[in-house]
Order: sequence, then structure tokens, then C-alpha cells
Amino acid sequence: MQSASGPASLTVMSPPTLSSLFDLVGDEMALVEEWLKSNLIDDNLFVEDLLRQIFQAGGKRLRPLIVLLSSKASAREAGKLGRLHIILAVLTELIHTASLVHDDVIDRASVRRGQETINKRWNDRIAVLMGDLLFAQASICLARIMNPSIVGIYGQVLGDLCSGEIKQMRQQFSTTVDWKIYIDKSIAKTASLFSAGSHSGAILNGCSNGTIQALKDYGLNLGICFQIIDDLLDITGDAKETGKAVGSDLRNGVVTAPAMFILQREDEPAQRLRALINSRQVAQNEGVEEALEIIRRNGGIDESLALARSYAEKSTGNLEALSDSVYKEALASLTQYIMTRTA
Ligand code: FPP
Ligand code: MG
Repeated sequence: MQSASGPASLTVMSPPTLSSLFDLVGDEMALVEEWLKSNLIDDNLFVEDLLRQIFQAGGKRLRPLIVLLSSKASAREAGKLGRLHIILAVLTELIHTASLVHDDVIDRASVRRGQETINKRWNDRIAVLMGDLLFAQASICLARIMNPSIVGIYGQVLGDLCSGEIKQMRQQFSTTVDWKIYIDKSIAKTASLFSAGSHSGAILNGCSNGTIQALKDYGLNLGICFQIIDDLLDITGDAKETGKAVGSDLRNGVVTAPAMFILQREDEPAQRLRALINSRQVAQNEGVEEALEIIRRNGGIDESLALARSYAEKSTGNLEALSDSVYKEALASLTQYIMTRTA
């Protein structure tokens, strides 16, 4: 199922470029970029410098894109957004980035977005505090939106992010296959924030419950699909493109869909993979290379793609409840982009 342009393909249609989707929200995204690099806390130059480094290092800005497109798709006057929608997009990216800064401490990662992580460049203490500072910036944004429902939604997201990481830690080096635990963890660590971002704009727009729920489900299914592809890229990806080391999940004992599809069998490859994980040989170069090869050669990739595709299809189905617009089409295209992404 591999395609020349990426690890996956949803249909025979050529995948959309991300820049064509960003073109629909160009003015708003410029404001988001400005906000992201501003120190809302104080005039500490070191912090300001770090903020610039973190946000100039890139990142795909998928979450602000989802916020802006879904806000436009549900706006009363098609495509018209206010200042609060911009703050919502900023808040969503701040929470995402803060969680990655903390995640790199937990995973002892040295590279993120092709650059040295804060924990590597400075140390864990600075990284924890910098992550906290980003969460503080996000709280200021949340206060400025002044909507109790949205405070509740994003408060739940913060809890979900932590509980997702805890769930993942509790499963470390476990070879027991439990798909419910895997999907629940993927919702907590990823899809919860996608879903918050995809439906909070509709709340600000005063939309009907049907529209709000459709966008909430769209984000949830898209987020699960995103996480499965992320887990796949950890195995099939090119470190130069993903900006992250290949095989780092398995090295850390994080067993994801591509490995689970092998582990749920009883054949020889399954037994060998189980032994490599149980003995923690996957934490070493030789062990992880062998494990990755087993997964690649025994169908772990195609089966994971099919699972991701099932969530991609659900997410496009959720959009049927929305009125037709170029923004609704862009949300559907975004699903296709996520299925075919290589970074
Ligand atoms: C990336 O996972 C990490 C996340 C999606 C969430 C991490 C969340 C936390 C560390 C908790 C945040 C704390 C608060 C206070 C809310 P990954 O390691 O699978 O992805 P990667 O390959 O990009 O590192
Ligand atoms: Mg990580």
C-alpha cells in the first residue's frame, strides 16, 4: 500500500499540498505566528529568545490550521473570523508545543523538528520550566477567550495529555495486545486536543449542537488517524523528514499499532518480536533494528495503514453534517494529507 509520495494513500486522488490549505487562512495564520513568539508573561530576554527558537524551529501548525478551517467552516458569515478564533488557534498550538517540550524530557529525546531539543541543548530543569511557561501562556489565552465551556474543554485536554502519557508508561515493554487501551491512549495523548481545536470555534460561532458535535467527532477521528500514522512513521519514516530518530518508540518500550499487529499472532515472527521486547533488547541498536525489520516484513505497516484509513474515513464522514464550503472541502483534504504525510 506504500505510494511513491508517502507511506499511505487514501484514494487514487493525488494528495493535497499542505500549502494549498494554509492559503485559505493565510492572514489569520500570520497573526497566530506573531502571538506564538510573544512573551505574554514578562520581559525576560532569555525566555523570549527560547520562544523564538521553539517556534521558528518549525512544526507543521496542523492544530491551528484545524482551528481556523473548522471555525471558518462553521462561521455564520462564511470565512469570517474574529480575534477570539485567532487566540483559540494560538492556545491550541501552545498546549501542543508545551506537551512536546515535556515529552522530550520524558523520552530523553535529543532531536525535535530537526533541531536539538531544549533538554539536550540546556537541561531537563530548563525544559520542564519552559514547558510550564508555555502552559502558562496558554492559560492567559484561555482567560482572554472568556468562555466557560471552552475553559472546561481545554482543562479536560490538559488532564487527557497527562493521563495518556501515564497510560503509555504503564504499558512500557508490555507485549499484551489490547486495542482498546491503545486507542484510548491515542485519544488522550493526541485526539483530545485535535477535537478541542476542531469544535471550539463552532462554540464561539454559536452553532447548533449538531454542527458542534460533528466537528468534535471529526477532530477525534482525525486525531486517532494522525497518531496511528505517527506511530507508523516511527518505523517507516526518514529521520531527515520527520526530524525525529527512527525506532525511538520501540527503544523506549512504547509498543504501537505496527508492532501490535504482529504480536497478536502466534507465528515465529511474533514470538521473536515478543522476545526482543520482553528482554528489552529493543532498547539497543541491534535489537531495535531486528524488531523494525520484523514489523516491516510481516505486514505490520499495511495493517496499520488500514486501521488509520478507517479513522480517516470516519472523520470525512463526520463532515457531512456541515454546509458545503471551500473550508469544509479543505477539512476533508486535510484528512487525506494526514494519511499521506511523510513528516
Ligand atoms: C508525543 O508523543 C507526546 C504527546 C502527544 C503528549 C505528551 C504529553 C505530556 C508529556 C503531558 C503534558 C503535560 C501537561 C501538564 C499537560 P510521542 O512521544 O509518541 O511523539 P514524538 O515521536 O513526536 O515524540
Ligand atoms: Mg516522544
